[in-house]
Amino acid sequence: MRNRNNPDSGTIKESRFPPSLFAIFLSTLLLMTGIHTGLIVLVNRMEWNVFIQTIVPIAYWGMVAVVLTLFTRREIRAVYEEPMHKLAEATSRVANGDFSVYVPTIHTQDKWDYLDVMIMDFNKMVEELGSIETLKTDFVSNVSHEMKTPIAIIKNYAELLEAEHITDEQRKEYAESIEGAAMRLSSLISNILKLNKLENQRITPEAEFYDVSRQLCECILQFEDAWDEKELELDAEIEDAAMIKADESLLELVWNNLLSNAVKFTEPGGTITVKQTSNDGFIKVTVSDTGCGMDHNSIKHIFDKFYQEDTSHSREGNGLGLALVKRVLELSDGDIQVFSEQGKGSTFVVTLPAAGALRTGNGGKS
Ligand SMILES: Nc1ncnc2c1ncn2[C@@H]1O[C@H](COP(=O)(O)OP(=O)(O)OP(=O)(O)O)[C@@H](O)[C@H]1O
Ligand SMILES: [Mg+2]
Repeated sequence: MRNRNNPDSGTIKESRFPPSLFAIFLSTLLLMTGIHTGLIVLVNRMEWNVFIQTIVPIAYWGMVAVVLTLFTRREIRAVYEEPMHKLAEATSRVANGDFSVYVPTIHTQDKWDYLDVMIMDFNKMVEELGSIETLKTDFVSNVSHEMKTPIAIIKNYAELLEAEHITDEQRKEYAESIEGAAMRLSSLISNILKLNKLENQRITPEAEFYDVSRQLCECILQFEDAWDEKELELDAEIEDAAMIKADESLLELVWNNLLSNAVKFTEPGGTITVKQTSNDGFIKVTVSDTGCGMDHNSIKHIFDKFYQEDTSHSREGNGLGLALVKRVLELSDGDIQVFSEQGKGSTFVVTLPAAGALRTGNGGKS
């Protein structure tokens, strides 16, 4: 018997047959041979005829063979066949799409052998398959749900446009609603495609050296109209230059989503702060807002696909932005942390490895 170390249970038996089997066989054979010799002596003493002298040992060994066959069959059935049948039955249920299957181990933890380990691995595999299946089903139902609303809007407003007596103003309003819904659909599909591509990607093939502080300023400028509209105050403290090696277009997704969330979840008159610093070979970008903030439970889920705290979908978006941000940062060796308090605001801190930061001075507040 060879023992294998198992991190969970100490040692795992590598064989189902104990070395004592040899002793059992040896003593049984010795006993049988002893009885056989005794029988021969008895037959000779009794001076039975030749036919009986021949038939008695044959009948005796025949009985021994039957007993040994029954014993071996019982052992093989208990040791191998029963667990294998249970496993085969469970496998066929999994093959038919039932992922609730659980096969109990044969022994208790202190007596585990390699078949118990195989059964535990099987249970783990089924659990994993089940969670992938749930993710897939959830994903499809989320996508269908997110698509339904804009499609319904397009349908309703298109019907209204068909009416004969509508004013130019109404026509414009309906057309704008259709355009908005179409844009929402298009952004949903493009985010799903981006996420799908990033999830199957292990590296960032377009990584190149560039100045992330320039990129941050450009992204902030894109939101100028949105700040103005909501009368938000912007505080930006960004270095003159900070070089990193990353995929510029992917990191643009990160900044745009953090900024758009800050604008979206901050009430008019609030303040948004963007800060970028370089330290110890890392570049840190902080986006803070004085918006609605999040509770503890929401913080745990914001990086899940399609998660939105506001389930009424009154605010635009599909809940894919932060899932994309997380995946981009994973691919770029970066990290993101969230600090938030309900009613007070949120702070997102992104850390990325610097590529020899070129610091030429500090930017002022704007
Ligand atoms: N700055 C923030 N303040 C408060 N809540 C936030 C903030 N950022 C994100 N959240 C919460 O996290 C959820 C997920 O954010 P995420 O960016 O993934 O989706 P979204 O902005 O709703 O939609 P999308 O990014 O797809 O347009 C948001 O719906 C919101 O509930
Ligand atoms: Mg977002």
